Amino acid sequence: MVGGRRTESFPMQHAKPSGEIVFPELTEDVVGRIAATADARVREVMELLILHLHAFVREASLTNEEWKNAVAFLTRTGQMCSDNRQEFILLSDILGVSMLVDAVNNSAGTGLTDSTVLGPFYAGPQRELTHGDTILLREEDGPPLIVEGTVTSQNGEPIGDALVEVWQTAPNQLYDVQDDAQPDGHLRASFRTDERGKFSFKSILPVSYPIPDDGPAGQLLQMMGRHPFRPAHVHFMISARGYRMLVTHLFLSGDAYLDSDAVFGVKPSLIVTPEERDGLHRIVYHFGLESLDEA
Ligand code: BEZ
Ligand code: FE
Repeated sequence: MVGGRRTESFPMQHAKPSGEIVFPELTEDVVGRIAATADARVREVMELLILHLHAFVREASLTNEEWKNAVAFLTRTGQMCSDNRQEFILLSDILGVSMLVDAVNNSAGTGLTDSTVLGPFYAGPQRELTHGDTILLREEDGPPLIVEGTVTSQNGEPIGDALVEVWQTAPNQLYDVQDDAQPDGHLRASFRTDERGKFSFKSILPVSYPIPDDGPAGQLLQMMGRHPFRPAHVHFMISARGYRMLVTHLFLSGDAYLDSDAVFGVKPSLIVTPEERDGLHRIVYHFGLESLDEA
């Protein structure tokens, strides 16, 4: 049945070379069938999804075999998910969707720190430490690092009592949640900024590491001729009343994977060069948060 609204304005640009558009009335019918959707946003998003999905099938001239393989791939992706493994997030990350959703939802601009992907290894609130404490729970053979941060508003006013959550990998390229040999909470912690917006902690230099690539996301990376590595980074999640939560990383300059991060998370403003003195590395960074009033 041909039905529905907006028939004339369908973006049916995916014609065959002959100019023929395969089965346009099907797309019209499917979109028309959701006209009664009560939630306007659900209707808007589903209409766009249907239009783009149908356009994709037409443009790619998808074969039955390819669609069967795609369904099997998505099935394996779901089967790989557990309490400790979110394969759909990895898929979204390696296809650049996580970074795009982030870009659509976060402002950038003078005085504001760029955001980047959360990733699957945030493990919820951690022990709160005081200024200058170490986030290590066991000795590690890595170059010592001290991070000194300031959290301010876009205009540079210090934000006191902001919650700063940090996490990073161990030198074996694994987060504590991936490695039974590491104590829980190793290389992750929370801090509160003081009245000058300052916090600091001791750690070790992070290392580059592969994202989990023993599942469907890893197979897809391999099929596309891509590696699974992320450049070395420390994660930050900064929350303060009246400000938009900032989820970001700091990357180390000179890392071999800065230009080919498997999840597209690198932004130039987030690359830092630690100062080194007598073997101690120091990163000083200023984090600017967006006020919710101005958003
Ligand atoms: C991470 O940086 O922890 C991460 C981000 C995306 C996918 C895998 C890991
Ligand atoms: Fe990470």
